[in-house]
Amino acid sequence: MSDASIDVSIAESSDVPEFPMTRAAGIPFAPPPDSLEINESAQMARVRIWDGSTPWLVTGYEAIRALFADGRASVDDRKPGYPHWNEGMKSTVHRRPRSVFTSDAEEHTFYRRMLSKPFTFRRVEGLRAAVQKITDDHVTAILAGPQPADLVSALALPVPSLVISHLLGVPYEDAEFFQEQSNMGMGRYATAEDAAKGAGTLAKYLIDLLEKKMDEPAEDLVSDLAERVKDEEISLREAAQLATGVLIAGHETTAGQIAVSIAALLDNPDQLAMLRGAEDPKVIAVAVEELLRYCSIIQTGQRRIATEDIEVGGGIIRAGEGIILDVAPANWDSRQFPHPDRLKLDREDGPNVAFGYGRHSCVGQQLARMELQIVLPTLFRGFPTLQLAVPLDELPFKHDALSYGLYELPVTW
Ligand code: HEM
Repeated sequence: MSDASIDVSIAESSDVPEFPMTRAAGIPFAPPPDSLEINESAQMARVRIWDGSTPWLVTGYEAIRALFADGRASVDDRKPGYPHWNEGMKSTVHRRPRSVFTSDAEEHTFYRRMLSKPFTFRRVEGLRAAVQKITDDHVTAILAGPQPADLVSALALPVPSLVISHLLGVPYEDAEFFQEQSNMGMGRYATAEDAAKGAGTLAKYLIDLLEKKMDEPAEDLVSDLAERVKDEEISLREAAQLATGVLIAGHETTAGQIAVSIAALLDNPDQLAMLRGAEDPKVIAVAVEELLRYCSIIQTGQRRIATEDIEVGGGIIRAGEGIILDVAPANWDSRQFPHPDRLKLDREDGPNVAFGYGRHSCVGQQLARMELQIVLPTLFRGFPTLQLAVPLDELPFKHDALSYGLYELPVTW
């Protein structure tokens, strides 16, 4: 594996599996079985992606943590050999303003510093009461409404949407329009055109909002960014790109995690009983970590490019080779998490890598954890007899979206 000539023959071989790998029907919570198979014998293997290139797919827990923490595994998507998600992303790479997702080292620190203020532990904890109130209002409305109810549109999507609008500083009267636009490209039958239209309208909205917040700042992320624009630290376009990035990274992900967690709990009644009876915030926090591991909703692989040779996972990734860090199989690596297919809400084998690890690890992780710690116990306490309205394997899981989730979650009680 350390010999470059062997690497070339591997790359040309037709045995290299395709990525993304397909998920077998009927096991909605497990990562695709091929990636788990790789795990049984190795930490990583070559895969073939849409453009015919053969980057490394890293599925082992140990190797993924090492690479997430390694500065030689760059996120700079302009570098030749970077394993792009699709043609659209590749062809627009030089048109997109730089941001936290695509910059390394000092440039990354520069952008990340601009986002970190609203996500500090203190600011996030300060939102707890507001998140509880938003959740209570939605749970009350579901209780008063007809059955079956769809918990995606009635709870999993609106709660993180409203929280993020609040955090960004979108005025209450615009929150609905803002949600509509941000959901436009994420709907089940959304076309590439819908996605582009949604993103364009949103970028324009955010530029207008940034301009407004330059004159009337408040305690929110758009005001923080507006101040940076005013001080000429970043351009208006960069600020809009950062705000849109936060919205997209934090919106569909949290909604998907809430919805899939609810389905996983309903599928594991003994574990659900444990969560329902839990009063201790620490027990709830441990349970949420296990749901993040078990559901692992980021399944498209975080992309990197090696800038130097990297010895990792028993092999060498050569400078210029692409890397895909697949957190779902790493969270199901039985060398770290014994019996990974069991949802065990008191499991403490972690830490899991649901939010990545190292300098690019999720900015919004405290916020996402807090939302889950509030939404799940509140829902299950409010509905002691909650059950799925259709069999688990008939639920419309998002096999085709950027992050895993559910299009609908019909329930009765
Ligand atoms: C359950 C919900 C979420 C999951 C599973 C998740 C997962 C992740 C993962 C795996 C990364 C690492 C990317 C990498 O290293 O390549 C990441 C980064 C990021 N996430 Fe999240 N995320 C969630 C919620 C959120 C929320 C609520 C926000 C903001 C409101 C957010 C904002 C971001 C940002 C800005 C980054 C880029 C950080 C950087 O590159 O420095 N995420 N997320």
